[in-house]
Amino acid sequence: MKNISKEIPSVNEKLIETVTALKHRIHHLSKIGIILGSGLAGLAEEIENPVRVRFEDLPNFPVSSVDGHRGEVVSGNLFDVSLFALSGRVHYYEGYSMQQVVFPIQVMAALGTKTVIITNAAGAVHESYKPGDIVVIRDHINFMWDNPLRGLNRFVDLTEAYSGHLRDLAKTTADNLGIKLRSGVYAALSGSSYETPAEIKALRRMGADMVGMSTVPEVIMANSLGIKVLGLSMITNIAAGMGGKPLSHKEVIETSQNTSPKLTALVKDLIKRI
Ligand code: HPA
Repeated sequence: MKNISKEIPSVNEKLIETVTALKHRIHHLSKIGIILGSGLAGLAEEIENPVRVRFEDLPNFPVSSVDGHRGEVVSGNLFDVSLFALSGRVHYYEGYSMQQVVFPIQVMAALGTKTVIITNAAGAVHESYKPGDIVVIRDHINFMWDNPLRGLNRFVDLTEAYSGHLRDLAKTTADNLGIKLRSGVYAALSGSSYETPAEIKALRRMGADMVGMSTVPEVIMANSLGIKVLGLSMITNIAAGMGGKPLSHKEVIETSQNTSPKLTALVKDLIKRI
């Protein structure tokens, strides 16, 4: 049988191609990367001296197909700190493979990123969480039934997948700004349906405080590449069966847009302290 493996570009070849294309456009390497989830593009607007590259203009970069996710790389500064932001991201639920979902993290690593701040929109599973709350992710439960390291045979320790140091820093920063910051466990499901009330009940019993459809693949890949992670969830809705009303994607996007200034203020102040 013909060996086709040499004809299919490997992830490494794709990475080299993408990183080379980016290096022609952006001016510097960045120690800090940021992934801005649904409705959180506001922070990318505040980056100074920005160079913007649309995902679709980058070779091999996965392009999002969902409302509320503008897909572009924004490279620039905030308070003299050089940043590499992804405004928008692709999700596993869009039909992309785990490898495609984590490709941008591998690009960040190749561009010198040592710390990544990952934001997302999540449903409240904890009974006291409310829409508009911000939660620092303490730990996660991967219910996507897939793993981006499958096939790579990297046995990565995830005991502190979300850096304790960065979590403390987030708490101090939030306290200084008068923002109430909660700490919780994020359960990731593959979507794209929302959950059933029975699933939410089961998730709560298993220790989840919030639920979403992103972040976990990127966090696993970041850990395997030695990148420290800070995860921040914005609560956009009460999870299925708890709030007495049906969930809507429109509501999720609207709440995240309304809460975005608070999260943006927190992330901006945090960047000064990392
Ligand atoms: N479930 C799953 N993902 C979500 C939710 C939810 O309730 N809210 C925002 N993303």
